[in-house]
Amino acid sequence: MRFTSFAIISSSLAVLVAAGPIVEKRASFSLQNGKDAQKLNAKFSSLSASSSCQSGEVACIKGAFAQCVNNQFVTTPCSGGLTCVALPLVNSPGTSITCDTEQDAADRIARTGASGGLRGRDLESRASFTLQNGRDAQALNRKFQSLNANSACQEGENACVNGGFAQCVAGKFVAVPCNTGLTCFALPLVLSPGTSLVCDTQADAQARIAATGAGGIFGRDEPELEARAAKAPAACKAKKREDFTERSEDAPLVRRIAQTDLGAVAQSWQDLCLKSGGDLQTGDPCVQLAGINGINALLANADPCAQQDNADAMIKFAKSKGIKNKQALIDNAIKYAKHPRNALNINGVVPSTPFCQRAPKNAELKGVVRAQLNGVDPGLFGAPNIAIFPFGQAGSCPFGKTPNTSTCTCK
Ligand SMILES: *[C@@H]1O[C@H](CO)[C@@H](O)[C@H](O)[C@H]1NC(C)=O
Repeated sequence: MRFTSFAIISSSLAVLVAAGPIVEKRASFSLQNGKDAQKLNAKFSSLSASSSCQSGEVACIKGAFAQCVNNQFVTTPCSGGLTCVALPLVNSPGTSITCDTEQDAADRIARTGASGGLRGRDLESRASFTLQNGRDAQALNRKFQSLNANSACQEGENACVNGGFAQCVAGKFVAVPCNTGLTCFALPLVLSPGTSLVCDTQADAQARIAATGAGGIFGRDEPELEARAAKAPAACKAKKREDFTERSEDAPLVRRIAQTDLGAVAQSWQDLCLKSGGDLQTGDPCVQLAGINGINALLANADPCAQQDNADAMIKFAKSKGIKNKQALIDNAIKYAKHPRNALNINGVVPSTPFCQRAPKNAELKGVVRAQLNGVDPGLFGAPNIAIFPFGQAGSCPFGKTPNTSTCTCK
């Protein structure tokens, strides 16, 4: 038995050894050789037979091998199917100029780890609009993250909505899902200024935007953007939960946390209101305070105090003339004031919703705190209309409480 398992181990070792040579070990100079070869090939593409040169210099001119004699290039064509290229040396630092197929030359350069093909795509060889195209694509991708099927739009406008390709028809986005494994992204055009919306893999989209020099799909790995981004205190990061979204392109993005029970929350107060015996005519209070203002105050864009103000208005109604179920209305208003608000993904973060920073009008609401949804970032606060700020600033604790950033708690 023992012997058998030993035999199995040694045969799997043999497999590993056989797989070894596939990973080529690169010398310390390999990448530099590759980049140097790319630079030469880029330079050669601008040479002609009348270019000035130094005697003894070798180059490639329009695919032919060229040597400088008496300050003039003398060219020798490569034989059939081959073209003159600069290649990285393999065993020592440097490059060589030789006749090769374009494919083999590109492979040899790629094997050094230098990306961008035969001539590379270093900054100098990028078009003047390339970087801007990348940044424009990033800005669009950031904007698209905040859109949903109910977002307002302009007739004919195109966008990516919930990962699908969407067009604005009659003021609403109509989205067509991408095929399995693909997601709608804004990508930079390559040959002219502009962007296009394409169903693509995340990896390819990332590579295309990175190739412009702009950084990641949403621009978040751009150092300056990263520096501007709010940083959560370490104590809050330690509190991170399983379902918590990181500012990372690898993590699946939580688009938004929308609650399905908002209608029921509003309905329960509205029902109590309708049978309260109070003045239901002036200002249509039951519908206004529940279904309209009540729900609006729980959406991601609401003012941080809108929910408390609405709960105050509910209690004011409960205390008004002719009300038969005052306590039930007040209890329900308190429950409403504790309800979490929707949270939206903003540039890859689902921030906690900022707290109202003034006292409620009614004593019943004193110390009553809105809950935060599971899955929001405990260290970052914000909303689509409020720039993201870290725990510790005003609004990261309920009114009357002070944030302690070393524990990420409010006291
Ligand atoms: C924050 O909490 C820690 C640990 O409880 C405590 O030692 C520290 O004094 C608190 N800081 C402030 C500013 O209250």
